[in-house]
Amino acid sequence: MEKILSPSMMCADFGNLAKEIRDLEAAGADSFHLDLMDGAFVPNYGMGLQDIQYIVSHASVPCDVHMMSVNPGEYVELFAKMGCGTIYIHPETDPHAPRTLQKILDSRARAGIAVNPGTSYSSIAPLLTMAQDVLVMTVNPGFAGQKYLPFVDEKIEELLAHREKYGGFRIFIDGACSPQVIARLSAKGVEGFVLGTSALFGKCKPYNELISELRRL
Ligand code: DX5
Ligand code: ZN
Repeated sequence: MEKILSPSMMCADFGNLAKEIRDLEAAGADSFHLDLMDGAFVPNYGMGLQDIQYIVSHASVPCDVHMMSVNPGEYVELFAKMGCGTIYIHPETDPHAPRTLQKILDSRARAGIAVNPGTSYSSIAPLLTMAQDVLVMTVNPGFAGQKYLPFVDEKIEELLAHREKYGGFRIFIDGACSPQVIARLSAKGVEGFVLGTSALFGKCKPYNELISELRRL
């Protein structure tokens, strides 16, 4: 099955952002993953709105925004208007996630839920009919370069097993996506992988070589 490979732009070289976007697209990136961090929902800050705006307006592939932030419902309009691809909200921080997801569905963006490692499958099951994409966090959100949390595999299996019943959402993995993880999970039917330091950035090979190797897995 064709994998969706999505470089995590928080790992990119912000001193050469235009070139990074060009090189990554030329290397075959299917979309970009833009992490928004508010220092409250996650203990980190990351890209600012101006960075997200810049990447969205310079990219020719979809740009998904991963809102690691409280009260996402107040800001989804902003990202939909920017022209973002999938807008991922964390239901852990939105008591009215169905209302927020409907807001995204009514916009031109795709509705996504991002699920922390400690969040159970059963607690998000009610939302799955409204999610077009599900982003499974396989690390604690907020930082690159962390270790894969194997206990999340069980939740991935549950999502795969129930996917058709809930309308066929796509499953993406975010965190420590190494070539080994990508090979193992794409064989099980997981479509999308957020590429950070485990598979793409900070390596001594050019992006196009790394991405074509990942395609062949
Ligand atoms: C985690 C971030 C991702 C990812 C980075 O919050 O959303 O960008 O972990 O990739 P790795 O884990 O491979 O450095
Ligand atoms: Zn992310």
